[in-house]
Amino acid sequence: LGVYLDGLTGKVPEHPMAYAELERRAERSMPPELWSYVAGGAGDERTQNANVTAFDRWGLMPRVLAGAAERDLSTELFGHRLPTPLMLAPVGVIGLCDLAEGRGDLVTARVAAATGVPMIASTLSQDPMEEVARELGDTPGWFQLYPPNDRELTESLVRRAEAAGYSAIVVTLDTLTLGWRPRDLSIAGFPQLKGQCLANYFSDPVFRSRLAAPPEEDPEAATGHWAMIFGNQRLTWDDLAWLRSLTSLPLLLKGICSPEDARRAVDSGVDGVYCSNHGGRQANGGLPALDCLPEVVDAAGEVPVVFDSGVRSGPDVIKALALGARAVAIGRPAAYGLAVGGRAGLEHVVRCLLAELDLTLAIDGYASTAALTRGDLRPVR
Ligand code: FNR
Repeated sequence: LGVYLDGLTGKVPEHPMAYAELERRAERSMPPELWSYVAGGAGDERTQNANVTAFDRWGLMPRVLAGAAERDLSTELFGHRLPTPLMLAPVGVIGLCDLAEGRGDLVTARVAAATGVPMIASTLSQDPMEEVARELGDTPGWFQLYPPNDRELTESLVRRAEAAGYSAIVVTLDTLTLGWRPRDLSIAGFPQLKGQCLANYFSDPVFRSRLAAPPEEDPEAATGHWAMIFGNQRLTWDDLAWLRSLTSLPLLLKGICSPEDARRAVDSGVDGVYCSNHGGRQANGGLPALDCLPEVVDAAGEVPVVFDSGVRSGPDVIKALALGARAVAIGRPAAYGLAVGGRAGLEHVVRCLLAELDLTLAIDGYASTAALTRGDLRPVR
């Protein structure tokens, strides 16, 4: 109500209230190569767009007089009770989206601390994971691992994440090589190849031991070495036992869309399945991630499923939860919030999404996000 009352006194919010406006302002604010990198996806971006429109095919059944004056948005994951089911997905260039100072990883961690919305810190960050973790306070942080083609380095990254206090490891498996992204291919300046977002590598003792000269002295050679070891297309299910053995922290696999893979992941001892198609950035011509979610949830059984790809609003979060996700993450909306308004802009995006989620539950008569079920949705014809 406060937001509406502000309008009566002529006070207009500084940051965009609608997603379309957020996107427009982000495009105007960001340098073109950063905009292309963040907004772009694979091929003609059909899968990326379908991720978003997939939500239109489901509608929440409104209920009245349902006693939803108080809402419980909390969710439980790996022994943590989180105040809301929202998470900040790992975004490799989030550092650069802080246009003022290029400290977006730290700013994102501060917003996570202020809102209680957990951050999943990317391997590809501007600041080392230890510094990001320090900003998180009591809010849980997870570390997202791109397993490099160097086992010792992989182990070192996981050990550092444990020592820094991250409470889960998310291994991303849909990016063992880069996607075909025409927007990036048409414009010079792919961030990582300019040595940006490689702080976790450049600060790593194993990575440094592989170089003839330290990255500070020869950043080009260090970046070249990174490009050689970044992806590991030869990784198979046979490597999962090794990945599992690296940590006693909860382990999640990100990029799971097939129920067979979800089942195999669970059988291999993972603690969580992260259903995502990387926001449509990796492969075009696939299925919208939301369409994969119900089968992945069924296959995962008791193992919790985290979801992202295409979430733009409070109702989107509700639909993903009703289809069985335990938590729901956002990628681009967070990057745009940061680009448009720095820390305040990102916090605005997070708080608006949560307010819309809460308000929708209130209006439609649902007192708890955890109690949402598939039966609360109907297909939109
Ligand atoms: C990503 N994503 C990603 N995922 C990951 O596991 N590690 C990473 O470093 C990155 N980096 C990254 C950069 C940018 C610019 C974007 C937009 C995305 C994928 C991300 O975690 C998430 O899966 C998607 O962003 C979710 O889709 P939406 O919310 O962007 O539609």
